[in-house]
Amino acid sequence: MSTLAASGAAAKPGSAKKAPFGKAPGGEDVDLYTLTNKNGAEVAISTYGGVVVSLKVPDRHGKLGDVVLGFNSVDGYVSDKSYFGAIIGRYGNRIGHAQFTLDGKTYILAKNNGDNTLHGGIKGFNKAVWTAKEIPANDGQALELTYLSKDGEEGFPGNLDVRVVYTLTDANELKIEYFATTDKNTVVNLTNHSYFNLLGVGLGSGDILGHVLMIEADKFTPVDSGLIPTGELRGVTGTPFDFRNPTAIGKRIEADDEQIKLGKGYDHNFVLRRKTGDPISLAARVTEEASGRVLEVWTTEPGVQLYTGNFLDGSAQGKGGVPYAKRMAFCLETQHFPDSPNHPKFPSTELKPDGRYHTTTIYKFSVQKTKQVIIHKSPNQ
Ligand code: GLA
Repeated sequence: MSTLAASGAAAKPGSAKKAPFGKAPGGEDVDLYTLTNKNGAEVAISTYGGVVVSLKVPDRHGKLGDVVLGFNSVDGYVSDKSYFGAIIGRYGNRIGHAQFTLDGKTYILAKNNGDNTLHGGIKGFNKAVWTAKEIPANDGQALELTYLSKDGEEGFPGNLDVRVVYTLTDANELKIEYFATTDKNTVVNLTNHSYFNLLGVGLGSGDILGHVLMIEADKFTPVDSGLIPTGELRGVTGTPFDFRNPTAIGKRIEADDEQIKLGKGYDHNFVLRRKTGDPISLAARVTEEASGRVLEVWTTEPGVQLYTGNFLDGSAQGKGGVPYAKRMAFCLETQHFPDSPNHPKFPSTELKPDGRYHTTTIYKFSVQKTKQVIIHKSPNQ
């Protein structure tokens, strides 16, 4: 079987290439596409789960490092339960009691997280084999992935035609555009579940507690013990959820706070500030001082889930045999709010046959040239 190491060998700047990545459980061939921009930054995407397998971006000295967790071959993703790098659908995050009512009809979904549905159910879009095509892009290298989610899949109504376009731009951005259409009224909430560590992932790399995070959110959606939003939009002022000023992720992650305890750290949806009229806004910025890497997340979505790898326990062996331990990475999953189909006051996730689902998220990488003084430093660092 081909491995990531073998297939990642000789990418040329401004190119795209395809290599075998193994076989899906149904026997389908899985490919790995590697897009390289004109700076030599590189993303590898698998047709299984539409997974971002690796993402190599420069540090402040121009040295490329892989900043996402993942596996060497498709087998790791087949057994994976943490959604490393995957496209998430049909509904990102949880739907409470695995059901919702639409147009007076109650739909019963697959339960895969206690009494709830998480990330699309037992076989979400992360376990699907997508059809891939390299497509032209003005600003870099692009890959289009398509998948038909059939009427009734995991309990959701309507045939949903999904298209995801990944573009690695020459400005070192990974742009992800999500498109969908349906033939029956349904609900949709698509995202990507990349786990980032800006130090670069490899044996001996540290956790993310010292990464400094800013989130453009005045409110978040508190959860119950099943991590289902209560419906409240709570102000962040005076809570560990106030990231309006850049703060180390680890500074308050063990705080004596009911919501932090329920999440075992951060596992919460933030309500993004939106500037009226802006089609896409800055959601978050993460800075890692040792490497100088900076990640900005821009999105058209109203929310972002900050997840700090609280359930990682070292049992998953990633690329290069690295055990993926608790807090080794963070996710910033842009999204509509969890459980929206059961919260009429949340922004709607309904899609109708005459509608068109289209959202965009950009993960933009840059560097801070000089080391800066961090005002809020983690006690653990
Ligand atoms: C999301 C959820 C978490 C967890 C991870 C995957 O971020 O909110 O609770 O399930 O996905 O492990």
